[in-house]
Parts: sequence; C-alpha cells; structure tokens
Amino acid sequence: MNRIFLTGGTGFVGSRFIDLYQTRLDITALTRNDPFGNQVGTAKGDLLDIDGLLPATKGCDAILHIGGATPNRAYAAGNFDATTVGTRNLIAAARANGIRRFIFVSSLCVLFPKKGPYARSKIEAEEAVMHSGLEWTILRPDTIVGPGAKDLGRTLRIWRRARCIPVIGDGTYTSQPIHVDDVCAALCKALETPASAGRAISVAGNDLVSFNEFARRFCRLIRKDRCRFVHIPKSAVYPLAWMASLIHPQWGLNAERVDIITTSHSVDLSLMRDLLRINPMPFEEAVSLTTME
Ligand SMILES: NC(=O)c1ccc[n+]([C@@H]2O[C@H](COP(=O)([O-])OP(=O)(O)OC[C@H]3O[C@@H](n4cnc5c(N)ncnc54)[C@H](OP(=O)(O)O)[C@@H]3O)[C@@H](O)[C@H]2O)c1
Repeated sequence: MNRIFLTGGTGFVGSRFIDLYQTRLDITALTRNDPFGNQVGTAKGDLLDIDGLLPATKGCDAILHIGGATPNRAYAAGNFDATTVGTRNLIAAARANGIRRFIFVSSLCVLFPKKGPYARSKIEAEEAVMHSGLEWTILRPDTIVGPGAKDLGRTLRIWRRARCIPVIGDGTYTSQPIHVDDVCAALCKALETPASAGRAISVAGNDLVSFNEFARRFCRLIRKDRCRFVHIPKSAVYPLAWMASLIHPQWGLNAERVDIITTSHSVDLSLMRDLLRINPMPFEEAVSLTTME
C-alpha cells in the first residue's frame, strides 16, 4: 500500500492515527482548516465538496475514511450530511481516480436495536460503501478512550468539579471500551490485510465493563477516590436530555446518546482477533493511558 488519503485527521482518532503511522505510511490528510506536520501531505477540502475531493484524492492507492458527522457536532449543526453525503462523495472520487481500497470507520451502534439520527447516518453511509463496488472494509468501534477523547474529556472535567456523578438508571449496562491506539492498529491492519475486504468488523476492548465500573475507574484517574453516584431513572433523563439538546447541543446530551450509553452489549471480537490479529489492551491499562486533555 503506497499513498493513503485520510479523512478526519484533525479529530480524536485521525490525529492519533497520523501520530502513530506517519513514518510508516505515505499519508495525505484532508483538512478544512488546520495544517498538519511535516511528514503528512495536506489536501485542503471538505467532504461535502466533490469538486475538491476529485483532485485531492488523485494518485492515492487507498482511502481511510475516519471523518464524519460525530454526534455532538452533528446535533449542534442539525445535520449528518458529512457522514452520508460526504461518504458518497468520497466513493465517487475514489471511483473516478481508480482507487480500489476503501476503509470506513462506522460505529458499533449500527447494531443496536434502537437507532437515532447518528446511527441511521452511519447505516446509510455503510450501505453506500457496501454497494460501491470498491474493495471496502468497515470498522465498527465501541466507545473509544485515550488521550484527546473529546466527549470523555469533557465528562471527566465535569466529574472532577461535581459533588456526585449522575448515572442513568442502575448503571449495570455494559460496553467494551477500546483504547484509541488499538483502533488505529486495527485501521492499519485493515489497510494491510486484503482478506478484510468485504467485511464489517466490530472493534472493541476485551473487557466487558459496566457503566458503574467505567465511572469508578475514571473517578480514580481524576483523583476522586470517594465518588458518590446519583442514580437517575432513565425516564427522567430523556426530558432533561431533550432540553439540553435544544439549549446546549454541543454538550452532546440527547436522547440518542442516552440510548447508546444504556444499551447493554457484548461484542463479537472474532474478526478483529482472527483477521486483523488485534489483541486490545486491558481496560485498566486503557484507562491509565487516558488523559483529560
Ligand atoms: N470517539 C468514539 O468514541 C467513536 C466511537 C465509535 C465510532 N466513532 C467514529 O470514529 C470516527 C472518528 O471519531 P472522532 O472521535 O475522531 O471524531 P471527531 O474528533 O469529532 O473528528 C471528526 C473529524 O471529521 C472531520 N469532519 C467533519 N465534517 C467534515 C467535513 N464536512 N469535511 C471534512 N472533514 C470533516 C472533522 O474535521 P474538522 O476538524 O475540520 O471539524 C474531524 O477531523 C467517526 O467517524 C466516529 O463516528 C467514534
């Protein structure tokens, strides 16, 4: 694999990918504003602007499509076009420039029973990718932790100041958080593993962690040893989330987020382990490697 066209390079996952792999891969990163470091080529443009994507992707051998309308920003802006239209634009640019390999970062929430606008936008984009005729691989990460995690960082800053930690319902619902470095390793392996073409791969940590446990470990990280949990019934959180999404959409508290957080799930990791050969770090280590900034 020679030249990689990367989207989302200014975001949490994409910027970490660039840090980790810029010396190993020849990366050209799409950016709306920020320039990148010396080792990375920059293509100024927007996922919504097909005319810019056509010349930007020329000469690349693969596309690593990490960027898109992530929940907080999309709810704040009131649309998810960067994921839906943006993915279709990128596919069109890939086709026009004869780029065959296309890796797309979706989300595990596409598999959850209840689907809000974010999940639906990812499903629409996944369908475009699956019907693109390209050699596609889709990665579906669970909650990603690690340095620079924006939503988590904001939550931890609030928790640090708060007298008690609000928990939706009883807090026993589970997830399998994964460290951003393991997600980046999975992306790199997907690029380098032709057998991953045509597969949608769930990407998650090994440890099944309840929200209560998740909160306890992160409280220790921010030196809140004796954190007190206040359990709020889910039915009472929905109206609060609805109000918050109207007044402060950038907080990222909305009904879909409540559903995503409280959907208990355990993840089938067989493709991630057997095909991509990723063995993610334990949750304890992932937490210790997470900072608030
Ligand atoms: N973080 C998680 O826990 C998590 C879990 C599951 C799946 N995911 C998925 O993983 C991917 C990366 O997430 P993240 O946390 O790194 O997101 P993020 O920090 O919000 O970054 C989003 C990136 O997309 C770019 N972008 C948005 N709209 C664009 C547009 N119209 N044109 C060009 N670029 C655009 C942003 O560029 P600007 O800087 O210019 O805005 C930014 O680089 C996303 O697809 C997300 O849905 C994340």
